[in-house]
Amino acid sequence: MDSRDGESVFAHLPLVPDPPVFAVMAAYGKDPSPLKLNLGIGVYRSEDGKPFVLNVVRRAEQLLVNDMSANKDYLPITGITEFNKLSAKLILAPDSPAIRENRVTTVQCLSGTGSLRLGAEILAKFYHQQTVYIPQPTYANHPNFFYSVGQTVKTYRYYDPRTHGLDFQGLVEDLCSMPSGAVVLFQACGHNPTGVDPTIQQWEQIRQLVRSRKLLPFFDSAYQGLVSGDLEVDAQSVRLFVADGGECLVAQSYSKVMGIYAERVGALSIVCKTAEVASNVESQLKLLIRAMYSNPPIHGASIVAAILKSSDMYNEWSRELKMMNDRLTRLRQQLVDALSDRGTPGDWSYITKQVGMYAILSLNPDQVQFLTRKYHIYISSDGRINMAGLSSKRVPYFVDAIHAAVTGGI
Ligand SMILES: Cc1ncc(COP(=O)(O)O)c(C=O)c1O
Repeated sequence: MDSRDGESVFAHLPLVPDPPVFAVMAAYGKDPSPLKLNLGIGVYRSEDGKPFVLNVVRRAEQLLVNDMSANKDYLPITGITEFNKLSAKLILAPDSPAIRENRVTTVQCLSGTGSLRLGAEILAKFYHQQTVYIPQPTYANHPNFFYSVGQTVKTYRYYDPRTHGLDFQGLVEDLCSMPSGAVVLFQACGHNPTGVDPTIQQWEQIRQLVRSRKLLPFFDSAYQGLVSGDLEVDAQSVRLFVADGGECLVAQSYSKVMGIYAERVGALSIVCKTAEVASNVESQLKLLIRAMYSNPPIHGASIVAAILKSSDMYNEWSRELKMMNDRLTRLRQQLVDALSDRGTPGDWSYITKQVGMYAILSLNPDQVQFLTRKYHIYISSDGRINMAGLSSKRVPYFVDAIHAAVTGGI
């Protein structure tokens, strides 16, 4: 009998919808309206709404192309050694005692996503506590990393929709009631989707609680430099935790901060108590990587390493980050001013208090749908907008749409 006869062995698989953010992207792509505006997916756009390739990235790529000694052999399992060292220094500080004492193992990963997933893998395999706490709300993919390896995912209070700010009391209460040893995921800065970060004083209180309750912090750093415009300032939360000598995991992504989304460049660092533990941990990471994808790709990480190791290119990168950040800050102010000039009901001033690439607008799902239906504006159903998707000239159109949505245009 022909094996093509009969029902497919996959016939029982139900069709599942695309993840919401990709569904929004696809709907935007299909919309023929010249007025359409995509504030959904979290990618940085230039003022003319186009993808933005940093000049420093183009320069680094030129260098790579011209380097006739470069080849395309397999990388080691852990990736480019220099990239790993430079990435650890970027987030933990060049003079970090943890790095000097060889207590940090860093491996090149497939962007922030791959770094988070690898972190989840090693925790699932070896860590004694299998409950992971993530902020409520958080980046939509966060639960998946931990569910995928069989861990239990719970949330801690983070955002207070009434104040549009941090629910610090709720966060503290939740940290206090977590079981000892639980893993707590923190976003290092530029919290996605809320644009709300703890102050440095609050981070210090969080650190004290995390350490006293013997919780294990896992940092997700995807926006270093895009929040304050300063790479050092945006690393403060992580550095605070590493300075106390305790352990933590840090996933870094270069997607947004260097605009190299499609290159898939990131790193996972695990800060340990001793150099011996760090080297054992690294040996285990290698086994996990070997079984998943064997070794990472070379091109994107070479771009990053070229930029991080040259003071000239590093400075250019810092300047470009500052420029991107200034644009985000300016757009926030323009949006709030325009809503106020239009007399749109509500207090929108919180938009300028939120930071980084995102803001959560106080719109309900019906109002979000109205924006899409009537104005061809695409945003996440929770009201999150990507500020970088907006531009000065589109602010009036966006404000007209919000005004119509909140004054009952539905
Ligand atoms: C908080 C956060 N972490 C991680 C990621 C993963 O991004 P990537 O896999 O492109 O590095 C994102 C992407 O939006 C994010 O917002």
